[in-house]
Amino acid sequence: MSEPEVVATSEAQIAVHWKEEAYIQPSAQFIAQANMTDPYVHDRFGLDRFPECFKEYADLLDWYAYWHTLLDTSDAPCWKWFVGGKLNVSYNCVDRHLTKYRNKAAILYVPEPEDEAHVAITYQELYVRVNEFAAVLRDFAGVKAGDRVTIHMPMVPELPVAMLACARLGAIHSVVFGGFSGKSCGERIADSGSRVLITMDSYYRSGTLLDHKEKADEAVKTAAEEGQDVDKVLVWRRYPGQYHSATPMQDGRDYFVDNELKTHVGSRIEPVALAAEDPLFLMYTSGTTGRPKGCQHSTGGYLSYVAGTSKYVQDIHPEDVYWCMADIGWITGHSYIVYGPLSLAATTVMYEGVPTYPDAGRAWRIAEQLAVNIFHTAPTTIRMLRKAGPDEPQKYNYHFKHMTTVGEPIEPEVWQWYYDVVGKGEAVICDTWWQTETGGFLCSTLPALQAMKAGSAGPSMPGIHPVIYDENGDEVPAGSGKAGNICIRNPWPGGFQTIWGDRERYVSTYYGKYCRNPESKEWRDWPYFTGDGAMQAADGYYRILGRVDDVINVAGHRLGTKELESAGLTVEEIAEAAVVPVADDIRGRVPDMYVSLKPGFDAGPVIEAKVIEAIETIIGKIARPKHVYIVPDMPKTRSGKIMRRVLAAISNTMDIGDVTTLANPEVVESVRQMVQGEGMVVTQEGPEDLKLFGEER
Ligand code: WTA
Repeated sequence: MSEPEVVATSEAQIAVHWKEEAYIQPSAQFIAQANMTDPYVHDRFGLDRFPECFKEYADLLDWYAYWHTLLDTSDAPCWKWFVGGKLNVSYNCVDRHLTKYRNKAAILYVPEPEDEAHVAITYQELYVRVNEFAAVLRDFAGVKAGDRVTIHMPMVPELPVAMLACARLGAIHSVVFGGFSGKSCGERIADSGSRVLITMDSYYRSGTLLDHKEKADEAVKTAAEEGQDVDKVLVWRRYPGQYHSATPMQDGRDYFVDNELKTHVGSRIEPVALAAEDPLFLMYTSGTTGRPKGCQHSTGGYLSYVAGTSKYVQDIHPEDVYWCMADIGWITGHSYIVYGPLSLAATTVMYEGVPTYPDAGRAWRIAEQLAVNIFHTAPTTIRMLRKAGPDEPQKYNYHFKHMTTVGEPIEPEVWQWYYDVVGKGEAVICDTWWQTETGGFLCSTLPALQAMKAGSAGPSMPGIHPVIYDENGDEVPAGSGKAGNICIRNPWPGGFQTIWGDRERYVSTYYGKYCRNPESKEWRDWPYFTGDGAMQAADGYYRILGRVDDVINVAGHRLGTKELESAGLTVEEIAEAAVVPVADDIRGRVPDMYVSLKPGFDAGPVIEAKVIEAIETIIGKIARPKHVYIVPDMPKTRSGKIMRRVLAAISNTMDIGDVTTLANPEVVESVRQMVQGEGMVVTQEGPEDLKLFGEER
């Protein structure tokens, strides 16, 4: 491989200024044991071999009936993969491993309190638990194939047990991140039409046993207000037999799972043979409008894609100990804690709590004690661990062969610390770029075949063919130093099927911009619009800039500006609200909130506090704004649109640009003074994605 060139600063509409980083090669030791070493793999998965190339992913699974049609495009752009095939995800992740791996750990669970012992759940034990809980779901809660079940739980093994039990029955699970509020959970219950909610009484976070069941009451109330009744709330207990919540159990609605399990001891539930295109789960994510969208993922396509990418990118072998620090409530946890690793008979680690609790060495102690050799986390956590204990990793005797970073762009200096200090110079790093919608990785290096380059997600995955379009739909070539909208030319098995109950939104959001012919049944006419800005270097590696739509990536979590704004607008004094991302050393981006008041109200700390409280209770603490600025008026276009771009520039002390065409240019200076103080205008270059934010498109 030749040395990377320095990409010249271009005068493009969106100038990209970063310099190219050097290549780093994987070690011979890593290559010698890697799952994917075929230098021709990208040819095997070339566009001329599409879609047949994906047969090899399907062949990683066990099928009750083999499929007859690899890709059916007749209902474009709702693609159907492996049509005619029948399988069950719970069978593929549990039962089929019993012959060889019955007594191997499937899940290693680490409770947050350090005096509570680790728990090793073997494949046999997982099989027993999944069956017994499936029996509770089917025979006690009346759950059957096609029903939606909402799961709002912390990071405990009962969560994957619940997911796999749903999958065994063919019920569609919708896991809501445990940190989300009861209200957010309730909206998702209503949207999905779930009659059953699975929750837990409490869990540990930073040394405190938090009451979680109280959120279930709020969730059920919210769902009912939106017209969806929940008739059973199944409550796991963090300590079976002891209830740690201040909220009473509601008679005839709330049931302790440990009690119900007693009558199902020894139950075995035959896995239901599902069609490959039957939905496996919904995962809600943020978009441009206030309402979160339920991304619907399939059974056969999804599982084969996460199995394939876990095997070839994460290099998981059954004898590895794999730890992904994400929360299962996000897509990363679904694909790369639960389904990908378990489909490969891996040992997957789950940690209940905060990575720096009770001190900065905790994560590395866990790695040492469990002999973790594959590690997976997000830049926001890497920054946090680095800040809390830059020298901690060397105090512990663990050795990673492989590390992943996911969820946000990673700064080259943070990448370097991850490589040198966390990975001790021994581990390869895969920077994996993908989305809730895409089910699995879109871009990453294949670790034994392609060199690493700090800050770059690498080339595309085998069988994924990206293209960068400018605003007119013309291709932006590699090495041009210009960025544009990164799209994927072709469908792939892991891609979501639709937005639950809203096909129109699915079509318009992801295909509206670049579809060549809305009548076409030909996949080539339907490039998938990711919503990310990116540039491609001359060597083919992609560098992801971040979202081009109204989404803020806070500590790796996607939040829609509209969701935050609507939460702010529930405060009665607020007339208008605008949310913008502001750069933050640890969390990447955090929201800044600008509000203007209705006439007759005066600005003050009480209103600021009300706005923060509204956001925390409606969405959750992760969405808490860094600042709430009460402004006299919002900068607006002549058509009355709030200029979020201008507010983002102010929050980030970036160049505000030309504001003379605004309806009220004088407001800009008063807002700027309020935020930055009087005196000289400070301007800085600012991160690339913030330059894109709020561009009118
Ligand atoms: C961003 C998380 C840069 C991107 C799996 C994407 C990344 C959004 C990377 C999806 C990466 C994810 N480098 N940016 N390696 N991975 N992103 O749906 O903006 O929670 O569109 O899925 O995160 O976030 P989501």
